[in-house]
Amino acid sequence: MRFCFAALAALALTIDAAAAQDAARGEKLFEACQSCHSLDPAKAGMAGPHLARLKGRVVGSAEGFDYSPAFRAAKAQGWVWDEARLAAYLADPDSVVKGGWMSAPGLDDAAERAAVAAFLLRP
Ligand code: HEC
Repeated sequence: MRFCFAALAALALTIDAAAAQDAARGEKLFEACQSCHSLDPAKAGMAGPHLARLKGRVVGSAEGFDYSPAFRAAKAQGWVWDEARLAAYLADPDSVVKGGWMSAPGLDDAAERAAVAAFLLRP
């Protein structure tokens, strides 16, 4: 039994470390997004909404940003950002929010999209 707990703890640590590594890679990749997105909610005037505290954030809910009608409709439905939705959005924005204003961000690699999602959705 004790062995079992130890194995589980080791597994949890491995997963934690992998997530942290992914987030670090995602932070680097996020530089490509910063021409349009800030991580500072107080920074106004960017082409895209700020992306601070995205984990569990309702889609289209950055204070003061003028979203497309497609994003306003998604917000009205109460959609929330999670790993799966964000990874799909970064692959093809239209597949998640049809008719939104963001063009494909050019992350062709699934591992890169997962890394950016891990960075933006870090707790
Ligand atoms: C050329 C500008 C531009 C670039 C580059 C860009 N985006 Fe966007 N992004 C936008 C715009 C504009 C919106 C709002 C879309 C709308 O209102 O339809 C948006 C929306 C988003 C949202 C939804 C936010 C919310 O409040 O619900 C996320 C998440 C996002 N972008 C992530 C990214 C990531 C990650 C990258 C880089 C890989 C990126 N974007 C690159 C312009 C950009």
